[in-house]
This record gives sequence, C-alpha cells and structure tokens, in this order.
Amino acid sequence: MKEHRGNWGSNIGFILAAVGSAVGLGNIWGFPYKMGASGGGIFLLIYLILAALVGVTVLLGELSLGRKYQMGPVGAYRQLCRKFTFLGYFSVFSGFLIMSFYSVLGGIVLKYVVGFAGAIFNPQDADIMTMSSGDYFGTFVCAGPSMYVFFAIFMAASVIIVSGGVAGGIERFTKIAMPALAVLLIAVIVYVATLDGAADGYRFMFGIHTDAIRELGIWSITKTAAGQMFFSLSLAMGIMLTYGSYLPKETKLVKNSVIIATADTIVAVMAGMAVMPAVFAFGLEPGGGPGLLFVTLHSVFADGMGGEIGALMGFIFYGLVFIAAITSSISILEGSVTFVMDIRREKGMKMNRGRFTVIIGALVLLFAIPVAFDGLGSGVGGGAIMKTPAELFGIENVKVWCDCWLDFYDVITEGILMPLGAFGMCIVIGWIVGIDSIKTEIEATPGVKMNSAKWFDICFKVIAPAVLIIVLIAQITSFFG
Ligand code: PHE
Repeated sequence: MKEHRGNWGSNIGFILAAVGSAVGLGNIWGFPYKMGASGGGIFLLIYLILAALVGVTVLLGELSLGRKYQMGPVGAYRQLCRKFTFLGYFSVFSGFLIMSFYSVLGGIVLKYVVGFAGAIFNPQDADIMTMSSGDYFGTFVCAGPSMYVFFAIFMAASVIIVSGGVAGGIERFTKIAMPALAVLLIAVIVYVATLDGAADGYRFMFGIHTDAIRELGIWSITKTAAGQMFFSLSLAMGIMLTYGSYLPKETKLVKNSVIIATADTIVAVMAGMAVMPAVFAFGLEPGGGPGLLFVTLHSVFADGMGGEIGALMGFIFYGLVFIAAITSSISILEGSVTFVMDIRREKGMKMNRGRFTVIIGALVLLFAIPVAFDGLGSGVGGGAIMKTPAELFGIENVKVWCDCWLDFYDVITEGILMPLGAFGMCIVIGWIVGIDSIKTEIEATPGVKMNSAKWFDICFKVIAPAVLIIVLIAQITSFFG
C-alpha cells in the first residue's frame, strides 16, 4: 500500500502558508520601488488588472492540477498530458535554482537581524550602527565563510521546518509567523508615518507621475508590472501546484486563488508604505533590489533614526523581512522535497521526508557556493573569493546576466524557464486538454459550480499566454539588452 501523503490541517492554515510563499523579498525590495519609479498609481492599476487576469488564472491552474492529481508538478503533468511532463521538470529545476540564491539573500537578512538585535542596548559600539551602509554590506558579502555561515543557518532553519511535514511543519510555522509579520509590518508603517517628510514617500508611491508615464510608456510599465506580479505570486515553479496537492476536496479553489492574490498585493502595497516614506524622510534616494534592502534601508535605521530607536526599528524591520523570506524559502524547498517523495511513494518505498529534506538542503548548500562567494558581483576584483561569471568566462562587456552568480541563476529561472513554464501550462489547459480538465476538479468540491468557467477559458487560451509572452520578451531584453 502507498504511504499517505498528508494534507493541510485547515483551510486557513493552507492560505497562510500560500500567502507566506507569495509574500517575500519580492514584495519588499521589488514592488515599492518599481511602483514608485514606474508611474506610481498607474503602475498599481496595471498591476491589479494583471493580477486579476493572469495571476489568479495561473494560480487557479496550479492549485487545481495539484489537487486533482495529488502530486507535485512532474507527476501532475505526466497524468494530465504525458508529452508535457517536461513542464513539470522545468518547474522543479527552477525552484531548486531559485532556492540556491534566495536562501543566500535570506542569510544576509539574518545577519542584519542579529546585528541590529545586538545594537539595541549599546548602539555606539555596534559595527552595524557605526559603519557606513555601503561598507557594512560590502564587507559582509565579500566575507566568504561568515556570509556562508549565515546562509547555512537560514537553510538549516528551512530544513527543520519542512522536515516537520506540510501540516506539522510548514502550516504550524506559518500560522504563527504570518500574523507576526502582519503585526511587525503595521508597527513599522505606523512609526514611519510619524517621521517628518514621510509624505514625499507616499507621493512617490501613490501619486500619478505623468512624466514617468510619458517617459517610460505604458508598454514598459506593463512589462515591469507583469514580471513583478509573476515572481511575487510564486508562480511557475510548481510551488502553488505542490501546495495544492495537499488540499482536501472541500477547499474552494477559485475563492482561495482570489484570496491569495489579493493578500499578496495588499502586503506589497503595505511594504511600500513601510519603506518609501522612511527613505524619503531621511533624504535618501529610492532604489530597488539588494541595494534598497541592504544599503538604503540600513542607512535609514543606522544613520537616519540612529541610536537605540534606530537599532530597535532595524531589528523589527529586518525581523519581518526574515519572516517573509523564510516562509517563501520553505515553500520552494517543499517543491523539491515533494518531487522526491512522490517518486518514492510511486515505487512503494518509504517516503522518508526527514532524510530527503536534509539531502536537498545539503545540495542547496553546494549549489549556492558560487552565489555566496562572489560577493554578489564584487568578484575577485572587488575582494570576494570567487570569480563572477563575467570574470570566469572573460566577458569584457558585462551584461546583467553575468554580473554575478545570483543574476546568472536568476536569468535561467525568472528570465526564461518560469515564463515558458507558465505559458506552457496555459496552452495545455486552454488548448490541449481543455478547461474541463480543471473545471471537473473545481466542481469536485461539494456545492461548487464553476460559473466562471467561460471566463477562465478565455484567460487560459488568450489573455494569460499573451501576457506571458510579454513577460518573456521583457525578461530576455532586460537581462541581455
Ligand atoms: N514570491 C516570493 C517573493 O515575492 C518569491 C518566491 C518565488 C517564493 C518563487 C517562492 C517561489 O519574494
């Protein structure tokens, strides 16, 4: 007899876990800046439309396929349409590679949590308060072994949670972590609102910046919003599909997809309200990516606020970022773990979750070595231990994708495999097997009639694939442009 895979303990537990996966670094260092720099309110409007049309559709597709076949992406695609099993492998591989840089970033976040915690009682003696933001970050990311230790701790924490199982580990953790994140985020938003000059931050986020719209054009704003939405909702890595495979039949799939997409978007906007007003209040330049999270915001707490209060707010802020990152990292890890367990279960072997979670965690430690040792692009030239891809391949005219190993992994996944994978899923559901393949699953929930089937049919057939092509082109041009 095959071993039982287990299920989520409750619907709210599942929602918190899925929102935990969606809410991550993307919400905090991507969304606020992209929104502000891409026309403000207009960006938000486009983002909302895309999330409603494409995000919910792809999410619904993943949850339905997962629940229908009760397996991760490889097993699900194999049963849905054997020729497309490769889409399942795409997503498992993407997830693994993403984990290999995401958890390195998680390690850096942990360093800042520990640093600010230590500074609360004696800010004047703490490096994190006295060093310049650029130096603190630069020194740490080039530090090699000590950076690797923080990353390994972050990874070990993820392994411990995931080895506890879906209900006993992930759900139990996210049920505490997500409410904690909400409380911390609100605390930061409220405190930041009291700062002089905060209003400029709200204006940056929410104002309609006609000059930016004119300069960038709606097309480019749409491309930015689409890429962001995609990563932010954890789509196309088989993660939502995997989470869906642990759902019981009573779960209403359409409703849950809408809730997850809505919650992720709300948190992204809230993150903006925590971050941007603080950046503007201290006269700093807003930016995106690691620079925003580790340099600009560090300066907000260490120099702008300063002293005990700066250390305390820094601790709270990086604490919430840590929660956001680890609830995402466990979801990616679960994708790989489910993949292995499904194979073993099919073969009638003992699934052995604990052992395989540790093994996969160890593989991530291995794959992440280049990411953790090239100083996030500083390279040997900049004092790091390992060469960047550009240095290694001797590419003079440095393009974004080979600047650092993180970008190199990112371009393979976020740049190519993920948009292609999601595009493939829409084509398979929309054109090859037909919407009925998921409609029957959605209606397997007692009392549910899928009145929106016609609408989703159009989304799967036309709207989502069109947007995904845009994302693919945009990613490729931005990475290789
Ligand atoms: N959605 C997460 C974020 O916004 C990132 C993520 C991507 C998590 C893919 C899991 C899978 O940061």
